Amino acid sequence: MAKVITFGIQKGGSSKTTTSGVVAYLLSQTYKVLAVDLDSQGNLTELLTQRDIYDFHGSTVFEALKERDARKHIKVITDSLHILTAEDHLATLPSWLYANYNGNKSLLLMETLDDVQDDYDFIIIDTPPALGEQTINALAASHAVVAMFEASKFCYSALGRFLETIVHVQELVNKDMKIAGILRCMIDTRRTDNKALIELVEEEYTDLCFKTVITRTAATGRLSINGFKDNPELNQAVSQYQGFVKELLERV
Ligand SMILES: Nc1ncnc2c1ncn2[C@@H]1O[C@H](COP(=O)(O)OP(=O)(O)OP(=O)(O)O)[C@@H](O)[C@H]1O
Ligand SMILES: [Mg+2]
Repeated sequence: MAKVITFGIQKGGSSKTTTSGVVAYLLSQTYKVLAVDLDSQGNLTELLTQRDIYDFHGSTVFEALKERDARKHIKVITDSLHILTAEDHLATLPSWLYANYNGNKSLLLMETLDDVQDDYDFIIIDTPPALGEQTINALAASHAVVAMFEASKFCYSALGRFLETIVHVQELVNKDMKIAGILRCMIDTRRTDNKALIELVEEEYTDLCFKTVITRTAATGRLSINGFKDNPELNQAVSQYQGFVKELLERV
């Protein structure tokens, strides 16, 4: 049965998509991985497929959720890396849920993924920068969640409430889900305020912090342009995540 891992934080631009994409790619070197794009921006779809998000119109994660049939809508990237894609229509999920769905609205993703759980070793979920239905569904479907901390004051302000939201979801629908940890990322090593913020988070959440810290690196930033195939700087872009993936595997 697949281990389901969500990457989240309601603060925008905190490397959720980049990190979930790199982790899905690195795990797929050894394991069978399904990536799930739960953000209507479709950034994970674009990053991993290097295609236009509208190429998948009519067969995305939204259709999978509506039909409660994941398998029918899964797209193959490589033998070991598959994806449920997203596009902007996914933004209407909350209104669809309230108008059409009588079941537990938080559990729809978990129920949708149930049939394909045994096909994968890992299911990696990217979430939008909000604590709405998509994020709640992702948390409810997960065995573990990684809270992304990008070194900014606004992200620091978001982190406490994100961790509280995880605890609410644990109490209400998913007592087995655990916090894998907090990943400190996009650190600019030249900035003393960045250094102060990552130390503050370490002091406050000592046991939760992954030891690996991800720095702001041009090659990593350019993954959205160059992707994972035929990318001459791929090693430079993903190597700083190797230590994180090792720690993650020890924790989930
Ligand atoms: N380690 C890094 N070094 C340099 N640039 C990075 C790094 N991680 C992410 N980026 C860049 O920062 C921007 C935001 O990253 P990303 O889209 O992964 O964040 P996000 O949390 O998914 O954003 P959103 O909240 O909009 O979904 C992107 O342009 C991405 O290419
Ligand atoms: Mg994103």
